[in-house]
Amino acid sequence: MDELKNKNIILGVTGSIAAYKAPEIIRLLVREGAYVYPVMTRSATYFIHPLTLQSVSREKVTLSLFNGDERDIRHISLSALADILLIAPATANIIGKIAAGIADDILTTTVVATRAPVVIAPAMNERMYENPVVQQNIARLKSTGYRFIGPEEGRLACQDKGKGRMSEPATIVGFLKKIFSKMEDFKGKSFIVTAGPTREPIDVVRFISNYSSGKMGFAIAREMRDRGAKVILISGPTFIKPPEGVDFFVVETARQMEEKVKEYFDRVDGLIMTAAVCDFRPVQSFKGKMKKESKERVVLELVRNPDILEEIGRVKGEKILIGFCAEAENILQEARQKLKKKNLDLIVANDVTEKGAGFEVDTNKVFLLNSKGEVKSLPLMSKRKVAEVICDHIKQILEERQANK
Ligand code: C5P
Repeated sequence: MDELKNKNIILGVTGSIAAYKAPEIIRLLVREGAYVYPVMTRSATYFIHPLTLQSVSREKVTLSLFNGDERDIRHISLSALADILLIAPATANIIGKIAAGIADDILTTTVVATRAPVVIAPAMNERMYENPVVQQNIARLKSTGYRFIGPEEGRLACQDKGKGRMSEPATIVGFLKKIFSKMEDFKGKSFIVTAGPTREPIDVVRFISNYSSGKMGFAIAREMRDRGAKVILISGPTFIKPPEGVDFFVVETARQMEEKVKEYFDRVDGLIMTAAVCDFRPVQSFKGKMKKESKERVVLELVRNPDILEEIGRVKGEKILIGFCAEAENILQEARQKLKKKNLDLIVANDVTEKGAGFEVDTNKVFLLNSKGEVKSLPLMSKRKVAEVICDHIKQILEERQANK
């Protein structure tokens, strides 16, 4: 396979003893037809000489933001050139700096400026790796879309044994190959992803809503984008940043979400309905602010909102339709019914009473049920990983459709 052929890879090397493995990573990448542009931090140069990396990559090694020829703004040209940015080895320091958004040298400015996927291969002493702050930084980066490979268990430079060894060069290169092969999965396809809650106004300052954070939907949008899809992300109000490179629309109410979904549905290959749409809205939204004076009791009359997914299910044709459901009991039974009633290809069901699953958190524990009657139970995993598995299923559905044509 030619996943790495003609790919531009920025290799960031930081100050760990594992820097001695960087030339081997470069050698393997170059052998696969990639172009590798090494960038070294100052401490990396204590462990390995830039000339070594220049010799194996046959490219200029960048050591500083200021190289004497400021016509080439190096961090901008490098970040724009990158198909992928790999940091191997990555110290606790570089991980902390990236997590904090610091951009104070050539490598961190390049990371901040790039739109390419960033892969981090940590290398450090086990006690450093297990430090809660380091773990929080890693979790933060993972939830923002940075990918990690390793570290692995084994002998460490300080004679300790434990988790902290950088993954082997061949493993890292295999990981990059997998990322590149996935980038083509949804090439030429487009999808609507909905996310977050809806808000149904009671008056100008109050609304009915739910605890949905938008994290699951945003993770799916990001994963689809990374696999080459054009993504239209339609979200209710959230407090998180949408992924770059998607068409992003914010809506407020279920009816606004319905309108936006219907506006775009004709142009896409599928709809992933992750949003927690409010089932009911107040019959009337009070004009102005409802006053409490002279009222002991208020009765709020609610009316059913349109079921967007069910309506789209009636006209979906060959398009892919995926729903979510959050249940507190009889999860599989409820999910099966919704799958059928809404004419879905796949439903993702979670138990909202389970710790670490459902609203607001970064993890989820779900069941996947498809229209063939198959059920898959996934363990507790990050929402990013759940998004990956869902996209694998979408790819499989697309392939089956293609084969049956
Ligand atoms: O609320 P319910 O469990 O029926 O939600 C199942 C699926 O239907 C979800 O994917 C949700 O986004 C969608 N839905 C919808 N319109 C509604 C309610 C739910 O599209 N009014």
